[in-house]
Amino acid sequence: MRISASAPGKLILMGEHAVVYGEPGLVLPLRQLRAVVTLTAAPQPRLEAPDLNLFTDLSTGIAAMGPDVSTQSLHPLEVTLLKAQHHLHTHHNLPQQLPNLCFHIRSDIPVKRGMGSGTAISCACIRALAAYYHCRLNVAEVEAFAQAMDQIYHGRPSGIDAAVIAHERALRFQRDPKGAPVVRFLDVPHLALLIGDTGPAAPTADVVAHVARRHARDPRIAEVIQRMGALVRSAEQALRNQQWQVLGQLLFENHQCLQALEVSTPTLDHLITQAEALGVAGAKLSGAGQGGICFALFDAENPNVDAQVKALRQAWKPVCTQLYDFSAALSDAD
Ligand code: MEV
Repeated sequence: MRISASAPGKLILMGEHAVVYGEPGLVLPLRQLRAVVTLTAAPQPRLEAPDLNLFTDLSTGIAAMGPDVSTQSLHPLEVTLLKAQHHLHTHHNLPQQLPNLCFHIRSDIPVKRGMGSGTAISCACIRALAAYYHCRLNVAEVEAFAQAMDQIYHGRPSGIDAAVIAHERALRFQRDPKGAPVVRFLDVPHLALLIGDTGPAAPTADVVAHVARRHARDPRIAEVIQRMGALVRSAEQALRNQQWQVLGQLLFENHQCLQALEVSTPTLDHLITQAEALGVAGAKLSGAGQGGICFALFDAENPNVDAQVKALRQAWKPVCTQLYDFSAALSDAD
């Protein structure tokens, strides 16, 4: 027996942080980068995550721990698996205890970079367990589970990550005045992107809390957040009309807003300045910030685009721990 399930990474195009305050955000799945959970028979429940050098028995089920699995004494991956089992038990009348399986977890999505690695693992875990039980889960249920897990680890998640990763579709996300998520799928054509990874970011919960503290103290922060909402609305139109230069300028402006929120870093700012100097359509940090990734958008119709991609790769390479070049492939295709 061998069962696998997976989920993609994500790239927030625009609107991170502002979505926490009810503004819209635009986000893409990164299908090329995936978290994969594979289940095989084992004498007792076991977790293997070679990327994290984590090999451990999972003999303690949710029954022994109670529904409030302590997040302090267990590794987050163990908590995710136990919570997934608990969800299937309470919502689908399946066993309380994890079955005798080896849960092998691997991921192409680098952790703590703003690319949704934890959320993707939550989605892949519950899908794999459900598949083992031949239990059909709809996407909304997977999304709700991933959002509940993000609430444990990210403090005050808007829900944008859970939505894009569970649906695996480009989307516009906004919370309505009562806080309910409103998702609209986007038809996003060929986006020529280069993603630069500057290394681990600060924990999302800390960065979101930093913005919240500033928001509570300084009325100008609310203005910045409103401005970000306006930029996203303009970006939707630019996306629809495939106006890459217009969209790019909006990305640069969005980055300036993120600087004003104090979630950028000198390294991220340096990379964005390099992109601007090379005449690239646009660039900004992506995700919660204070480290992590940024990306550049190229105008694929520009006759110099190949030279621009090459030049930016060369400029970013010495600074970045990793480059993801989706300038030829499509970030939301297939
Ligand atoms: C994190 O991927 C995006 C943030 O806007 C937080 C959130 O929306 O949950 C920073």
